[in-house]
Amino acid sequence: MDTIIADLRNKDGDYKKYIETASEILKNGGLVIFPTETVYGLGANALDSVPCGKVFDAKGRPHDNPLIVHIAFPDEYSKYAYKDDFGIYEKIAKRFMPGPITCILKKKDCISSEVTVGLDTVAIRCPSNPIAHDILASSGLPIAAPSANLSGKPSPTSFSHVYDDMFGRVDMIINGGECEVGLESTVIAIDNGGIRLLRPGYVTAEELSEICKVTIDDAVLNALSKDAKPASPGMKYRHYAPEMPVTMIFGEEEKVIAFFNEKIKQGCGILCFDEDIEKLFPSENVIAFGSKMNYLSQANKLFDSLRKFDKLKVPAVYARFTDRNELALAVSNRLLRACAFNIEEIK
Ligand code: TXA
Ligand code: MG
Repeated sequence: MDTIIADLRNKDGDYKKYIETASEILKNGGLVIFPTETVYGLGANALDSVPCGKVFDAKGRPHDNPLIVHIAFPDEYSKYAYKDDFGIYEKIAKRFMPGPITCILKKKDCISSEVTVGLDTVAIRCPSNPIAHDILASSGLPIAAPSANLSGKPSPTSFSHVYDDMFGRVDMIINGGECEVGLESTVIAIDNGGIRLLRPGYVTAEELSEICKVTIDDAVLNALSKDAKPASPGMKYRHYAPEMPVTMIFGEEEKVIAFFNEKIKQGCGILCFDEDIEKLFPSENVIAFGSKMNYLSQANKLFDSLRKFDKLKVPAVYARFTDRNELALAVSNRLLRACAFNIEEIK
């Protein structure tokens, strides 16, 4: 398939023309990759089952994993989903939308069942990225968009990531530069007047608990048992996975550093904090993803680092154990999936 590439990193020149092209492609049943503030999305008209089916094929995505529906304005949700009994969506929308949060609501019939894989709920998200917003507003459509990676790869946070995975598989790719957050949106279900956090993200459990009671779903930090039915089907896949095994390492500081140095000698990859660099043997296989305390930097760099390890072809990767509060909960959740819950204590 021919793929149109459009560079919309600045708003001059052909910006408007390409937004219109993207919206025409979507209206005609095509697939467009566009940037959002979290990760790049692979978009299709959520009202039409044919292009939504093509999304699964382009990604190699299992057919039991539902898609998120993106809208231009928070109150458009009522065309596609029912209001929750406690008005929590509206409180969330007022405080966090447009922005990196997704709410699961009871679905209306117009949303293609291809999008929701037969569930009676739909995930609604109103992104803040201006390019995403302009495409949504210009097309006037709800757009189903999963992350624009091949299934199983880390989500794409830059144009080169989507180009590597998706060139030739979609009608158009828009280059909007680096994504601000770098991890996918916070996904919440509204449960009897409370919130259940299904996927942590930039909007944190701490912030959400200012609105109402928040429960963190077990699958956020724990591996699901083989036959468990997750609240969010995406939780059961080994997501975000580079090609080699990844292990999270914890233990006394000096012992962890000594272990990393041993692994560097063996040619393994190390995902560490900035503070570790001066204590580690110099090697191109060592990637620092920001300061121990700078969770946003870790979020920004995690997926790019995992993709770099793939390119370096290291036999295994050993990673720092991350915090679990605020945005670090999201970093931990993704890293745990990248390492298939493989954690080792160095004694
Ligand atoms: O930041 C994001 O959310 C990005 C950008 C492109 O918006 N999108 C994204 O989509 O991460 P995706 O498909 O990679 O992840 C969607 C997650 C999956 O874990 C899926 O199982 C869950 O949302 N999900 C979607 N609809 C659901 C529903 N009705 N009930 C429960 N979980 C749902
Ligand atoms: Mg994804």
